[in-house]
Amino acid sequence: MTADQTITIQCTVNGEAHALAVAPGETLLQTLRNRLWLTGTKEGCLEGECGACTVLVDDVPVDACIMATGAVDGRDIRTVEGLSDKERLSPLQQALLDHAAVQCGFCTPGLLMTLTALLEQQPSPSPAEVEAALAGNLCRCTGYRQIIDAVMAVAEEQRP
Ligand code: FES
Ligand code: FES
Repeated sequence: MTADQTITIQCTVNGEAHALAVAPGETLLQTLRNRLWLTGTKEGCLEGECGACTVLVDDVPVDACIMATGAVDGRDIRTVEGLSDKERLSPLQQALLDHAAVQCGFCTPGLLMTLTALLEQQPSPSPAEVEAALAGNLCRCTGYRQIIDAVMAVAEEQRP
């Protein structure tokens, strides 16, 4: 690929197949927000520091602002728009609301994706594990306590 060439990639986003012509240097955040209109994924620092742009790529949280779209060829992407089933919020989304863990809400989509991945990998995390998972997601409003409480409530509900 030369600097003025686009490449075509295939990927799935929230279960939907896409073929996308990708410009050199285009980030996954730009593709999601500006071309697929999935604006739930937020644009914060654009430097991989705040976590507001977190999405899942093959079930792993990544900062979409520093990931090249060309690198997601053949991969599965999930964004906050894919968490609810349109009728009902996911248990984690509902728990964040129930625990007043959403204040300005700017961090919330990224937090949800990070915590969704955590609960998929570790359905019964300890508070320390939740805190560690959130190391890359900055929240200036909540102090994190309510967020951790919400995750622990979901873990408790899911416990057999
Ligand atoms: S906008 Fe991507 S980490 Fe801040
Ligand atoms: S709720 Fe405002 S930044 Fe987290």
